[in-house]
Amino acid sequence: MTWWNRILDKSILFSFDRSGYQRHERAFLSGSLDVSMEGRSCLVSGANSGLGFELARGLAARGAAVHMLCRNPQRGAQAKQAIQAEHSAAQLQLHIVDLSSLASIRSFVAGFEINRVDVLLHNAGLLPLRRELTADGLELTVATHLVGPFLLTRLLAEKLAGGRVVFVSSGGMYAKRLDVEAMLRNEGSYDGVAAYAMTKRAQVVLAELLAEQLKQRNITVNSMHPGWAATPGVERSLPRFWTVMGKRLRTPAQGADTALWLAVAAEVEGLSGRFWFDREVVSPYLFPGTREDELERRRLWALCERLAGGFTSAASEPSDSEP
Ligand SMILES: NC(=O)c1ccc[n+]([C@@H]2O[C@H](COP(=O)([O-])OP(=O)(O)OC[C@H]3O[C@@H](n4cnc5c(N)ncnc54)[C@H](OP(=O)(O)O)[C@@H]3O)[C@@H](O)[C@H]2O)c1
Repeated sequence: MTWWNRILDKSILFSFDRSGYQRHERAFLSGSLDVSMEGRSCLVSGANSGLGFELARGLAARGAAVHMLCRNPQRGAQAKQAIQAEHSAAQLQLHIVDLSSLASIRSFVAGFEINRVDVLLHNAGLLPLRRELTADGLELTVATHLVGPFLLTRLLAEKLAGGRVVFVSSGGMYAKRLDVEAMLRNEGSYDGVAAYAMTKRAQVVLAELLAEQLKQRNITVNSMHPGWAATPGVERSLPRFWTVMGKRLRTPAQGADTALWLAVAAEVEGLSGRFWFDREVVSPYLFPGTREDELERRRLWALCERLAGGFTSAASEPSDSEP
């Protein structure tokens, strides 16, 4: 990499934006996405909007059977229809699943009759403006970004043997250190951006822990961040950022590119437990003081097990089944 590219990457602004994608894509291997996914079944959460829609669309275009996990029946049906209109042969199935609800996830998995899952894309996400607790008593970002995906992955582990799991995290996580206790603090004033960043950091660590745990089944687990892409979620949650960045935001397809690539590309076969940006492994730590220690990682695992319930120990401290 040239010194000039290194400086632009360090700037963040000229890396996470559209110009960053255009610069980075020059190094992409050509043909990596020219993959037939026929006969493969892929699950995408939050598939009705933004990056998730692009992921479902990209997988359908490659012949995969795509299971769209959406919480809103109307929005889900519209998205499914839009993809079907573009790819008439697409095999799409809409499942109404709320990723923030343990009961909803359990009920989905209980009724999911497909024997094999090749790709599981944990994309559903949100940045809440105010504190909301779910029916399970969890803060919404903890439930949606962490506990829900953990439960879904564990429940599907048998079907996922030999498959790929990808977490869509966020560059926002660079600002935070993993802090399980802070993530669970449900009192005082609420900062949605901080809650979002903390749980996105936790997703990256969780992906590493799951990678370790699931390697016996030959399941790879990676996380990535999309940079800054123009999606309905960004427009809604960060209206000022949306206005200031304007055309500098990536397209949704550019934002979704690395997640799609991780799901289909031959060159990532067998690679697991890594954090990716624009098809490259990158460090999950940019700022001093943001690296967690081993104890905190074990706390995260124990927390997910405890909150998802019904797997191993109910203790809040690390258990025997930790990776
Ligand atoms: N766009 C960016 O620049 C950017 C940057 C960093 C990270 N990300 C990450 O990328 C992912 C996609 O975000 P986006 O920008 O595409 O936003 P988006 O347009 O708002 O899409 C988010 C999707 O997640 C779904 N979702 C939210 N909570 C859910 C739940 N409890 N159960 C099921 N689905 C749920 C939403 O469903 P509804 O339509 O029903 O709300 C929607 O389909 C998120 O994880 C986000 O954190 C995006």
